[in-house]
Amino acid sequence: MADRETWASRLGFILASVGSAVGLGNVWRFPFQTATNGGAAFLVVYLLAVAVIGLPAILAEFVVGRRANLNAIDAFDRLGHSRWKVVGALGVFTGFWVLSYYSVIGGWVIRYLLGSVTGGYMGSPADYFGAVSAGPEALALHAVFILLTVGIVAFGVEEGIELATTFMVPSVVVLMLGIAAYAATLPGAGAGYAFFLTPDVGALLSNLDTVVPAAVGQALFSLSLGFSVMITYASYIGEDDNLGVDGGAIAVFNTFVGVLAGFVVFPLLFAQGVSPDTAGPGAVFISVPTALAEVPAGRVVGFVFFAVVLIAALSSAISLLEVVTSYVIDHYRFERRGTAAGLGTVVFALGIPSAWDTAWLGWFDGVAVNLFLPLAVLLVVTFVGWVLADDAVDEVRQGTDVARASALPTVWLWAVRSVVLLAVAGTLALGVRELLTPSGAYVVPPF
Ligand code: PFF
Repeated sequence: MADRETWASRLGFILASVGSAVGLGNVWRFPFQTATNGGAAFLVVYLLAVAVIGLPAILAEFVVGRRANLNAIDAFDRLGHSRWKVVGALGVFTGFWVLSYYSVIGGWVIRYLLGSVTGGYMGSPADYFGAVSAGPEALALHAVFILLTVGIVAFGVEEGIELATTFMVPSVVVLMLGIAAYAATLPGAGAGYAFFLTPDVGALLSNLDTVVPAAVGQALFSLSLGFSVMITYASYIGEDDNLGVDGGAIAVFNTFVGVLAGFVVFPLLFAQGVSPDTAGPGAVFISVPTALAEVPAGRVVGFVFFAVVLIAALSSAISLLEVVTSYVIDHYRFERRGTAAGLGTVVFALGIPSAWDTAWLGWFDGVAVNLFLPLAVLLVVTFVGWVLADDAVDEVRQGTDVARASALPTVWLWAVRSVVLLAVAGTLALGVRELLTPSGAYVVPPF
């Protein structure tokens, strides 16, 4: 397939992957997961999950993508294991599923960006959130967010995604550092840091069965794993990158931004005595404006904050759409623009329930993170660890200087086969239990 697109540079690939990883997961999901799962204790398990499960699993997706050089579904054919195509398909489906509600939240962010200009959300943040988060306005902004996403993907890998993320990622970091520095000057910031950084080990030990799956799920979501994104993005790279180094850079960078978001959100909340465990998807949208209403120059800070979140959300959403687009282009030879637009329309329709009622949004998110995600990652690591096996090690060695001498790729393979596989299987089991708990957080909402 001589005319398949590629990244212009290795840095472009890394930035695009970081752009995919850094998103609403870091800024919207991570703080409320941290808050409802015990604060710093959650952070500890999350960091462990990134290192022990996330990093080896990124590498597993990279191996599939680069070796096959094809979209995430046909990749398995090319590797000679057609039956495993379902793995790629599940990832593609999950991406579609997640984008449907991700885009609704993206729409909220657009609303809050506009709201920062007028200060509209400051009077009564909870009522404001209630009014704009569901119903016709949420639906309209969901459409706007999808349109922006389609617009970037329509331009292609190099001129769309790579160009956009090359600007987006550095802007997110710089702006976020600025707000974190500002938040540090607020009275009460210390209490925020303490909540975020001082683990309560006793509480953690007694809640392991809920904290662990939440933290692992968050790590996978945040690293964009189980969505075939890393398979797709790696299929556009050249032969000689060191995949381990690239994967490590992406994991470290993403974790850095997630933790940085904590350094923004928690001091802001504690500065105003807002309880951080206002659980659920509205947490950041209610508590951050509550804090902003009280601080000096709140509207400016709010504008910058929501601009950062919007950029981060878009650079993730484009990766979700690209996975499906890439499959349709490779497989059916459709042209890119029409494909992106058509798929955008379908995703919009799937997101209607989430835009209409936040209970549906919570349910879509719960099903994605507790079921689809760990299942997809479990299948990918099983495939790479036990089916691709030696070929996978071979692929990891490509582009490393230490080549044959290093034992690291073999250690990685055994980690994937054992620790990673078991940990993800355990997470899946606990996640499904969570979904099936009759009185739990993920009961199917009424129609
Ligand atoms: N990793 C993104 C975030 O944390 O917001 C979400 C995401 C993007 C997940 C793209 C999956 C994906 F394919």
